[in-house]
Amino acid sequence: MKSILLSFAALGLLCSAVFANPKPMTEFKPGAIWLDTQGKPINAHGGGVIFADGYFYWYGEHKIWGKSEAQKADGGIHAYRSKDLMNWEDLGVVLSVDYDNPDSDITYGCILERPKVVYCAKTKKYMAYFKLYEKGKGYDTAYLGVAQADSPAGPFKYSHRVLCAAAEKGSGDFFLFIDENSDLWHLAVRKPDKAFCITKFDDEYKYPIDASVKVLEGVPLKTEAPAGFFKDGKFFLLGSGSSGWAPNSARLLRADSVSGPFEFLGNPTSGENPINKLGPEKTFGGQSSFVIKHPTKDLYIAMFDMWVPEHPVEGKYIWLPITFENGVPKIVWQNSWKIE
Ligand code: DGJ
Repeated sequence: MKSILLSFAALGLLCSAVFANPKPMTEFKPGAIWLDTQGKPINAHGGGVIFADGYFYWYGEHKIWGKSEAQKADGGIHAYRSKDLMNWEDLGVVLSVDYDNPDSDITYGCILERPKVVYCAKTKKYMAYFKLYEKGKGYDTAYLGVAQADSPAGPFKYSHRVLCAAAEKGSGDFFLFIDENSDLWHLAVRKPDKAFCITKFDDEYKYPIDASVKVLEGVPLKTEAPAGFFKDGKFFLLGSGSSGWAPNSARLLRADSVSGPFEFLGNPTSGENPINKLGPEKTFGGQSSFVIKHPTKDLYIAMFDMWVPEHPVEGKYIWLPITFENGVPKIVWQNSWKIE
C-alpha cells in the first residue's frame, strides 16, 4: 500500500513538473514549442483567430497524441482564448469527432482540417467550417463541414456538410470573408482541376449558392493554404503551392476586391529559421493558415504551421508580423518579437 501511495505521489510530482504553470510569455518565439497557460503545448493546427467579447479565440485542428496522419490523428476542433495573443488559456476540444457513431459524417477516422470560425449576426451563431473528408476515402471528395455554437467558447454542434465551388469533388484549403453587406464568401481551390474559386453563401451562412461560383482570375492553379487580409483598400491573399505536408514557397497576390482579378506579387518571405535552416524557398518550414488583423492596432500577423505528419501533435507554429514596403506586404523571419 505504501509503495502504491509513493508511486501516486511520484506521478503527481511528474505531472506537475511537466504541466507546471509556465511564466507568462512576453514575446512571440516563431517555431519554438508554444505552451498554454497551464504549460501544455498548444494543439491547434491549421487554425485561425477571431476577436470576440474582449478575447482572441484561436481554433485549430486537435491532433490526437500518439497517432501519425496515416493513423488518423484528427480529433476535432481545439480552442484557446487570450487577451494578448501570446498567453493562451485552453478551452479544450470544442467540436469532437464522433467516437461512437460510425454513421456520423465526423466519425473518428474522418479527416477534419483547417477549421475557421465566423460570427453570423443574422442568426447570432458562431459558425465553424472545416475541410472534411469521409472516413476511409482519403483526400477524395473535399466537403466543407459546418458546425455552430452560441458562444465563441463553444461547444460547437456539428450541423451538415456541403460541396463548394459547385464541384462534384468539392474544394480544399479555404479562406472565408464577410463583406460590408454581411455576405459570407468562401475562397478555395476546386477539385480536381485546382482552379481557385469564390463561392457566396446564403444569408445564414449555411449553404453555398452554386450560381455565384466564379474562378478567380490571376490566382495560380494549385494555390493552397489561402489566408486573406485587407490593407489600405487592397485585398491580399497569402498562400502556398501544393506539396502535401512538405513545405514549399509562399505566394502573395493582390486585388482591388476578393473577386479579383489578382496580380501575382511573388514570395513575401525572407530570412532563415535557425532551428531548421529553412528560408523563403520553404517558407521557414511552414505553410500559411491565417492572417490576424489586430482589432485596435495597425498590426497584421501571419500564422503558419510546421506540419509533422509522423507525429502531428508536435507540429509547431510560426507567427510573424507583416510589414509593408510601399504598400507591399513582407514577412521577415524574426527569432522573437513583441507587439508594440
Ligand atoms: C496541404 C494542406 O494545406 C493541409 O491542410 C493538408 O490537407 C495537407 N495538404 C495534406 O497533404
